[in-house]
This record gives sequence, structure tokens and C-alpha cells, in this order.
Amino acid sequence: MIPREVIDQIMHITVIEDVIGDYVQLKKAGSAYRGLSPFTNEKTPSFYVIPSKGIFKCFSSGKAGNVVTFLMEHEKLSYPEALKMLAQRYNIEIVEERPSEEAMQERSERESLLAVSQFANEFFQRSMWDDEDGQAIALAYFQERGFRDDIIRKFQLGYSPDRSDALLKAAQQAGFEKKWLVAAGLVKEGEHGAFDFFRGRVMFPIRDVSGRVIAFGGRTLRTDKKIAKYFNSPESALYNKSRVLYGIHLAKNQMVKEDRCYLVEGYTDVVAMHQAGVENVVASSGTSLTEDQVRLIKRYTPNIVVLYDGDPAGIRASFRGINLILKTGLNVRVVLFPDGDDPDSYSKKVCSEEFRSYIAEASKDFISFKTSILAEEAAGDPLKRAAMITDVVESVAMIPDAIKRSVYIQECSSLLGIDEQVLLIETNKHLRKQTKEGGAPQQDVPPIDLPPVIQPRDRELEVSALAQERDLVRLILNYGRLPVNIELHNIVSDELESSQITVAEYLLFELQDEAMELHDPVLRRLTQEYARELLDGQLPHDRFFSQHADQALAQLSAELLSFPYTVSENWTLRHNIYPETEDMNLGKAVKDCIYRLKLRHVMVMIHSIEEELKACRENERINELFQEKLRLDHVKMQLSRYFGSTIL
Ligand code: CTP
Ligand code: MN
Repeated sequence: MIPREVIDQIMHITVIEDVIGDYVQLKKAGSAYRGLSPFTNEKTPSFYVIPSKGIFKCFSSGKAGNVVTFLMEHEKLSYPEALKMLAQRYNIEIVEERPSEEAMQERSERESLLAVSQFANEFFQRSMWDDEDGQAIALAYFQERGFRDDIIRKFQLGYSPDRSDALLKAAQQAGFEKKWLVAAGLVKEGEHGAFDFFRGRVMFPIRDVSGRVIAFGGRTLRTDKKIAKYFNSPESALYNKSRVLYGIHLAKNQMVKEDRCYLVEGYTDVVAMHQAGVENVVASSGTSLTEDQVRLIKRYTPNIVVLYDGDPAGIRASFRGINLILKTGLNVRVVLFPDGDDPDSYSKKVCSEEFRSYIAEASKDFISFKTSILAEEAAGDPLKRAAMITDVVESVAMIPDAIKRSVYIQECSSLLGIDEQVLLIETNKHLRKQTKEGGAPQQDVPPIDLPPVIQPRDRELEVSALAQERDLVRLILNYGRLPVNIELHNIVSDELESSQITVAEYLLFELQDEAMELHDPVLRRLTQEYARELLDGQLPHDRFFSQHADQALAQLSAELLSFPYTVSENWTLRHNIYPETEDMNLGKAVKDCIYRLKLRHVMVMIHSIEEELKACRENERINELFQEKLRLDHVKMQLSRYFGSTIL
């Protein structure tokens, strides 16, 4: 358990826009920040970070929360894991309340796997830099390949000693159970006992977006073609290879800055490019690119440049994978290296500046590139030509943006010498087919439209009790500190007096008036805590609840804190409706809300009295109940009159 004071400290020091800014490209928009939702594939930014309230809101997925919720969602962390990540970032020491041995045992599977992977990563590095064997075999290998020491260190490359259980022994000595080494794929159970899976290989740790080691690739040093060149960690609770890109953690900042991402095939290509001064590069590590990987790139930039070795078969094989990138709405360019070079080998032949200017200048737009390659192949062969048109059109049809599609159609038409109209018809055929198959390309999402905050009058009484309760808490959270003019009944003079109090004071006071309590436990907790703060003479600030150590309260308030522009201008323009916003008539909104709750409460009370009356045989009690019912009927009538309706 992380102590509450530490949670408060973490929440206090954390700068939400910085943390989320590591994952989403945020642009300032008024007092908030705006960017593309990391949870969906949207094209129009509807993801907001609101520092003053300590929350994020994502209108395309409906998700909302504070910085901890964001990390939990996005990095798939548990609550304590997310807090620890923030603590690490801001150098806050977490002393757990429980003894750490017990805590160790209770660590989730993921945490255990992380810990053992981290240990292995350090062990492999030590084995390369400190051991004679490691230096002579592994370090020498990397150096011979031309990798500089600082780059080797940057990628934390290492060596798994060529002994059957070097890692296993070291890890056990450090207190790690064998089962975690096995679960992480670092140790295998064989016929003759357990052995180090990667023994005798040079090691490339694979790290997630935040830099934690989650898997390894191990390259053999032998040239024997029968041995697999790379071994990779198996999938685990920690490692899902279709979601990971090698190098992402070192690339992401530069990807945003340069608004471009280079995609290569191998670990060594990534390493070599860093050495040549190009940092915005990731590798799909041997597997064909997955949709999750493309979306990971898209979080940082919509522009992707694929770097190929110039082998024609390889190029053709890659076309399918690139259609996937197009479908996600990214812009794809390609760079071909001469003479079958890959980025690694080419970077060794030229100097860094030459390398950088080559990849900058030799890049071609993918569709034009594909079209010219196919056109060359099909030259003078009418049958091939028909297939080629289909092939090109398939790629064009993948592009979600209609304007971009039509630009490509024009260009392909001139490259292929085919009438634009013909290509257009073919493309539309493809689009229809995709729609039928349910694989429609993602269309441009129109700006989000939210209905006006205030419900139409006749629906007022239909809203469920929970919605009413939420509405009350929403008003308290958003407007609690604002003053409202409310007519209050002065008991002494028996007159209505206009009085100015805060929204929160008024609502919480009214809530107590009929001994009303909210049914929902979390909502109730929030009102109680708010009332306590008021009694202590404090008005909770905007981030008081969104950063609360009680996770349920924090989540609730993130959902209920509204964003200043909830009613989009678009709504106003399109529907010609100018909704009365709460800010304009807060007094009425507040009264509507509490009176609705009260009315429901009174009706429930009346109903229960009637039930009791039916069964009651005791005169005194009957009288009592009757008096109470009369009083409640009166309250009900007044409330009904307020809403302008007669409720029987
Ligand atoms: N790969 C793999 N298993 C193999 C071969 C390749 O997982 N048996 C993956 C690795 O992620 C590798 C990538 O495919 O990085 C590209 O393969 P290759 O170009 O052969 O590897 P390089 O990283 O370029 O390694 P090297 O330059 O040392 O040959
Ligand atoms: Mn290579």
C-alpha cells in the first residue's frame, strides 16, 4: 500500500500536460491542450488535457480521468504501478506501508516479470562489459560491426554468457524465483534441467514506450545458417509483440519534433541510424507490421517513411503491409537503398551527413513509387496491365481521406497513362466492396457534437435517480465556489429573503434539509467530504477531487468536471440553437437540480407512508403518519408548481 500522503505528494507535483505530452502530441488550445486521441483512430483532435482541473477528457472514446487513470489506461498499469511510475519521474521515494518482503510476494505477475527482465538486462550488460569472455566475444563483435561504445550503452546491448545457467544462478542468488525466469522466457526447462535460453548470444533489450525492458532479442554469433539468427522472448503478460516497436522509447520525442517516423526492419538498423544521428526510427522486428504498431506510430506523427533494402521481391512483399498503413490514414513515403544495402550497411559506407541527406532526399511517395514499379513490370504486357491497375487502385482505396484519394487518382492516371475516370470508377468499386465487407476505411470524423447541457423541460422528471444524483454532484464540482442568488425562507420573519451563498453551500444545505442522502455510495462520499471541507472553512479547489487519493472519487470527478466548451460552436451553427448555458443562468440550473431530487425523494417518502398507513392499526401512529403525509403533500405541491406541472 502506498501511503496517502505520498499519493497526495505525487499528485501535487505531477504536471499532467508533461506526462500525457509524452504520449500525445498536444497543442495549446485556450487554457487547455488538445491532441489526437491515443485511444481511437480519430483524425480530428478531440482529446483534451485541462491542467487547471488536473484531468484529461477524450470525446471520441468517452474516457476521462486524471494523470494516473491515463497511465493505467494507456500503459496498462495497475493503480500502484502508475503511481510508482510518476514517483520515479519526479524522484519521489515511495516507502510502502507494508514490509517489502510481503509486498514482493504480492506483486502482480507483470511487476514480477518487469523486475526479472530488468535484472536480466543488467546482468547481460555486466556480462559484456565486465567479463573477459564478454569483452572478447560480444563487445568485440559490436565494435567490429562499427558500433560506438556510447551507442552500445544507449541501447543497453549485452551478452548472455555461453554457459548453461549463468543467468539462472545469478538471478536466483539475487532472490528471483525460477518460475519468473521461465515465465519471462529467459530460462527453459529441458530434459537435462533448466538452462539459459539466450546463452551465447548478444542481447538487444526490447523496451516499451516508457523505457522499461519487457523482452529481448538475442543474436547468435555463429555463421551457421542452420541456427536461427535471432531468438526472441515469447509473449507474456508483459510482452505483446504486435504492440511493440523496437526503439520507440528513444524515438518518440524526435518523432514529434520532426513530425516523421522512419520504419526499418532490424534491430541493427535502428542502432546504426542512431549512430548516424537519426533518432526518429523504429523497427517492427521481423514481424509484418500490425495495426497496433501503426497506431502507436500515429500517436506521435502521421508521417511514416519506410526504409527498404532494394531487393525487388522484398519490395513487392511489403506492399500489403503498407496498405495497412494507408488504411490507418498515415502518409507513407519510401526510401530504397542502392545495391541491396539496408540502413545498417549503407550507413557504414557513407558518412553521417551523407546518410541523413540520402534518406531525406531519396524518399518517394509510396503510391507513386508502387505505381511506377508496377508500370515498369507490366510494360508491353496487357494482361499484367489489368492486374496492375487493380493493385494500384486497391492501395488508393485504402486512404480514408477523400481529397487525398482524388489527388492520387490524378497522379496515377498520368503515371500510368490511364484515363482518370477509369481509375475513379475502379476505386469506387473497391470502396463499395470494402464497405460491404465491413472493412470500410475510416472516414473523416466530423467535429464532435454534444447536445446542450440542459435537458428539455418535459424530460426533466424522467431522468433516472442516479442521473439526478450525478447532476447534483456535477454542479457542485463545476460551480461549487460560485455565488448564486437564492431565495431562502427566513424562519424568524417568515419571509423569503434573497441571499447570496455559494452553489455548494446551497446544494449541500438543501440536501440535508429533508434528511436526504444520495443513494450512490461514491456520490454520497463526495458530498460528505465536500461538506466536511466546508465545515472546516475551506472551499475545495478544482483539483481537490480529481487528484484525490481515493481513486473512485478521483475518477468520478474527472468524469463530471466539464470542459469549458462542452456545447460545441458547431452545434449552435448547424441546428440554429443557442442553448441557455448553465453559466448564464446558474441559479435556475441549481434549483432545477435540487428540486428534482427533492421531488423524487418526497414522492418516495409519501409512498412509504401510504404503505405503512394501510397496515397500521395504532391510532396514535396513524395520526402521526397522517400529519407527516400532509406536510409532504404540501412540499410536493410547491415543487410541482415550480416545475409548472401537476404531479399526482
Ligand atoms: N528476425 C528474427 N528472427 C530471425 C531473423 C530476423 O526475429 N531468425 C528479426 C529481427 O528482429 C531482426 C529483423 O528480423 O532484427 C530483421 O532481420 P535481419 O535484417 O536479418 O537482422 P538484422 O537486425 O539486420 O541483423 P544483422 O544486421 O545482424 O544481420
Ligand atoms: Mn542487417
